[in-house]
Amino acid sequence: MNISCRSWVSLVQLVVALQTAAGLHILGIQVPRTALSGEAVELKCYIKLDRDSLYSLTWWRDDQQFYQYSPAMSPPKRQFDVPGIVINMHESGLENVVLARVDHRASGELRCEAVSEQSFEKDSKASNFTVIDLPVRAPKITGRTSGYTVGDLLLLNCTSPASHPPATHHWHINGRQASTETVIKFPGREDGYGRTSSSSGLQMFLRPQHFMKGALVIGCAARVLHLRDQLAEEIIMDARHPVEAPKSQFSEGRSYGLTITGCEHPPLLLLALLLLWYTGT
Ligand SMILES: *[C@@H]1O[C@H](CO)[C@@H](O)[C@H](O)[C@H]1NC(C)=O
Ligand SMILES: *[C@@H]1O[C@H](CO)[C@@H](O)[C@H](O)[C@H]1NC(C)=O
Repeated sequence: MNISCRSWVSLVQLVVALQTAAGLHILGIQVPRTALSGEAVELKCYIKLDRDSLYSLTWWRDDQQFYQYSPAMSPPKRQFDVPGIVINMHESGLENVVLARVDHRASGELRCEAVSEQSFEKDSKASNFTVIDLPVRAPKITGRTSGYTVGDLLLLNCTSPASHPPATHHWHINGRQASTETVIKFPGREDGYGRTSSSSGLQMFLRPQHFMKGALVIGCAARVLHLRDQLAEEIIMDARHPVEAPKSQFSEGRSYGLTITGCEHPPLLLLALLLLWYTGT
């Protein structure tokens, strides 16, 4: 067997590379899936180093670096400006970075990258992160006119203020989810800060079964990811539904004549009255 000196050199290089390849590992990272705008968030990156030391550990949001920890440098901690991220440098270290405040612009792929000192080996791990910026108020239903009755076309719009991610709308007719063919999704509108307002429409012909005792309740629920819905509601009265006879003005818990409040023994009171009447005559 004839092995050239050059082959030996590359073989040795391979063995060295294989050995050092086990030198640096990112065992795992901890990044919350979501956070609310304004919240503090802690990110963690666990590294394992064998036969080598750490040159640097860096954190990135997509392709923008926001943090670096290099043990040999003075100071070892450094931060870089990335929109939507404010770092608490005091609380941050090698294995953790504390973001004092995040907003929706911090959303993206967060990546921890480690480089070893001697072999310049690199390892990285990433996780997706979404910062939720809720709409400032509940959705609004517009487009309502008056005089609706069976056979009319009902056209309503629902609009949510800008949020990140944009809100999804769920229309309800008398508490039941509206069928997809009655709902129109309009394109969202960007607010210039990376947030989007949502708008959708409901269109349907009014049928007798829509009106319950002459009233139809339409709801538009706005949902941002998994968070609690914000609701807008409209009650539409059937213009041709017979108007119910006006209620008696005495029916609303009011009573007339003699009332004795706080009276626990009415028979005794009756007896007293009888006695009064008897002695009076
Ligand atoms: C993050 O999300 C993007 C787009 O949905 C996807 O392509 C990517 O693989 C995700 N990254 C991770 C680390 O899961
Ligand atoms: C609903 O919104 C769409 C798109 O903005 C608009 O064209 C339409 O006129 C609106 N309809 C009503 C009833 O307001």
